[in-house]
Amino acid sequence: MTQKEIPWDELLEKAKTILREAADREEAMQHICALLHREVPHYDWVGFYMVDPLAEGQLMLGPYSGEPTEHVRIPFGTGICGQAAETRKTFLINDVKAESNYLACSPDVESEIVVPIIKGKELIGEIDIDSDTKGAMSENDQKLLEAIAGEVAEFF
Ligand code: SME
Repeated sequence: MTQKEIPWDELLEKAKTILREAADREEAMQHICALLHREVPHYDWVGFYMVDPLAEGQLMLGPYSGEPTEHVRIPFGTGICGQAAETRKTFLINDVKAESNYLACSPDVESEIVVPIIKGKELIGEIDIDSDTKGAMSENDQKLLEAIAGEVAEFF
């Protein structure tokens, strides 16, 4: 399936339905991970990192779909996730192997996108997606994931 064939609008609607119908946040986030992992062929790992309310400047792994990762805690500023948390900006990386500040989850990963989840002025967490294909992420991915991040933020 090419970027063009992916039903981006439909995926956003499905994510909204999940958020409306889920019993709680954990369940909603888990189902969104499963949806994206299942429906988007170039998503090989889909997860949430959440700001730890008990440890300043630290992200902790939330719900995810894919292989387990050793990166269960990430300090702000470290790796792509930590940089996205620090700057509160989306990071779209075409070639992770060219990055100097990067934490590898699996040697198969080639590209990554990290989108912050912000409510008002507060960073809540982020959506992190890995792909085993180089240059897999585009502005379509960014648009969808920023929209989903906005919807998830409303849950907090
Ligand atoms: N690659 C991320 C670490 C998280 S794993 O991809 C699941 C990073 O550089 O922050």
